[in-house]
Amino acid sequence: MQALVAGTIGDFLGANPSALAFVQAPKPAPVSYSTEEYFSVTAFKLIDSAGKATFIRYHIVPDAGVHTLDAEEVKKEDPDYLSKDLAKRIEAGPIGFKILAQVAEEGDVTDDATVHWPKERPVVTLGTFKLDSLLANNEKEQKYFILDPIPRVPGVEPSDDPLLEMRAAIYLWSGKQRRAA
Ligand code: HEM
Repeated sequence: MQALVAGTIGDFLGANPSALAFVQAPKPAPVSYSTEEYFSVTAFKLIDSAGKATFIRYHIVPDAGVHTLDAEEVKKEDPDYLSKDLAKRIEAGPIGFKILAQVAEEGDVTDDATVHWPKERPVVTLGTFKLDSLLANNEKEQKYFILDPIPRVPGVEPSDDPLLEMRAAIYLWSGKQRRAA
């Protein structure tokens, strides 16, 4: 990727086809957070008990299936419809997701989120989880929440994708600003 010294966003996208591909990809709004699929985008490195590393990318799939709104439908929604919907759905019962992982092969690019792995790479199920309640003091907790894209867990390591360290630093800075506000 080239450094952006001066120029327009158009110049930047012209010089960086992978950024242009992301901008042009369709991004329909979900019906609900519980009908959206989620991707880790960056790769992670799982280490087995013998010390062998396997690179994976997470893909989290909703039990309710993926459902999106078209451009006209989304215009009719409240600006905060996703948060309101989530609270309502959790009251009605737990919301389930499956955690899948696409497994890289030797030679696949693992340090550049813009390079997709071939569709034929195997996808395995790692587990499931359920969202079953909101925190009692949700509003207050949100102020103290700091997202960390690097899992500080033995056996689950970041890949060498530079996005991870950079995001961890930005989110810590952003979280500190929020706590201080
Ligand atoms: C793989 C690429 C990325 C993914 C998957 C990602 C994902 C996310 C997620 C899930 C959140 C939390 C949203 C929430 O709390 O509701 C977030 C927050 C944020 N992201 Fe990213 N992000 C990515 C790249 C970036 C980059 C490249 C930047 C900046 C250069 C960035 C800047 C931020 C900031 C400033 C926040 C708010 C942090 C906070 O105040 O807690 N992100 N991102």
